[in-house]
Amino acid sequence: MALSGQRIVVIGGTSGMGLAAARAASAAGAAVTIASSSQRRLKAALAQLPDTCDGAVVNTRDEGDVAALFDRVGELDHLLYTAGDAVRPRPLADLPLDAARELFEVRFWGAVAAVKHGARRVRPGGSIVLTSGTVAVRPTPGTALAAGSAAAVEGLTRGLAAEFAPIRVNAVRPGAIRTPLWAPVPEPQRAALFAALADRTLTKLMGEADQIAAAHLYLMENRFVTGTVLTVDGGALLAGS
Ligand SMILES: NC(=O)c1ccc[n+]([C@@H]2O[C@H](COP(=O)([O-])OP(=O)(O)OC[C@H]3O[C@@H](n4cnc5c(N)ncnc54)[C@H](OP(=O)(O)O)[C@@H]3O)[C@@H](O)[C@H]2O)c1
Repeated sequence: MALSGQRIVVIGGTSGMGLAAARAASAAGAAVTIASSSQRRLKAALAQLPDTCDGAVVNTRDEGDVAALFDRVGELDHLLYTAGDAVRPRPLADLPLDAARELFEVRFWGAVAAVKHGARRVRPGGSIVLTSGTVAVRPTPGTALAAGSAAAVEGLTRGLAAEFAPIRVNAVRPGAIRTPLWAPVPEPQRAALFAALADRTLTKLMGEADQIAAAHLYLMENRFVTGTVLTVDGGALLAGS
C-alpha cells in the first residue's frame, strides 16, 4: 500500500475533509493521528476510523497545545492541516477590526503554529499539506477577510516550500464541498444553497470530502510536487468567466 509504515497527522481530522483524509490515508496503510479542539468530536471520529488511528485534543489557537501534540507524536511523514471554523459573510464596514483579525486565527495562524512545531519532525521524503479555498481567487461581497486568509495560506505554502525544502509543502484549494462546515445553515435553505453552489460549477456537482482526500493522497505520494496549490472545485473558477 502506498502509505504503508507511514505516520500522518491530520489537524482538523475529526470532521469533513480532514476525517475523509484520515480514512483514505488509513486505507492506504498509514497510521494516522487526528486532532481537533473538541473531545466529543474526537471520540465520534475515532469510532469511525480503524484501530491504527489515534487522536488528541488540540486547539490550534494555543501554541502550547500544538507543540505538545508534536512532542507526543514524535517523527511523522506527512502533516495535513484542514482545521477551520465556519465564517459568515459580513461586509468589512460592519466588522470590528478584532473580529477581522480573528478570522485568520484558526485557518492561517493555526497552520503557522502547526508547521512551526511539526515541520522539523517530518522525515525525509515527507510533506505538509495546507488548506485554502477558491474564495482566495474568486471572492464575493462580504468574504474579503475569508479571501485574505485563504490567499495568505497560499502565499505561506510557497514560502514554506522554499524554507523547508526538501520537505515538500503544498495546499489544496477546495471549491464548495459537502461537509459539516455547512451545518449551521438550516434546512431547507442548506439544500437550496448546495443546489445553487453546484449550479455555479462546470460539473454541476457539489464536491465531496473524499474527492479532497484523493487530492491529499496525491500530494503526499508525488515526490516531485511542492509549492503547489491544487484546485479541486468542479471547474467553479472557470464557470461563468
Ligand atoms: N466545506 C467547504 O465547502 C470548504 C470550501 C473551501 C475551504 N474550506 C476550508 O477547508 C477546511 C476544512 O473544512 P471542512 O469543510 O472539512 O470543515 P469541518 O467539517 O467543519 O471540519 C473542520 C475541522 O476543523 C477543526 N477545528 C476547528 N477549529 C479548530 C481549532 N481551533 N483547533 C483545532 N481544530 C479545529 C474542527 O474540529 P473541532 O470543532 O473539534 O475543533 C473540524 O475537525 C476549513 O478551513 C474550511 O474553511 C471548506
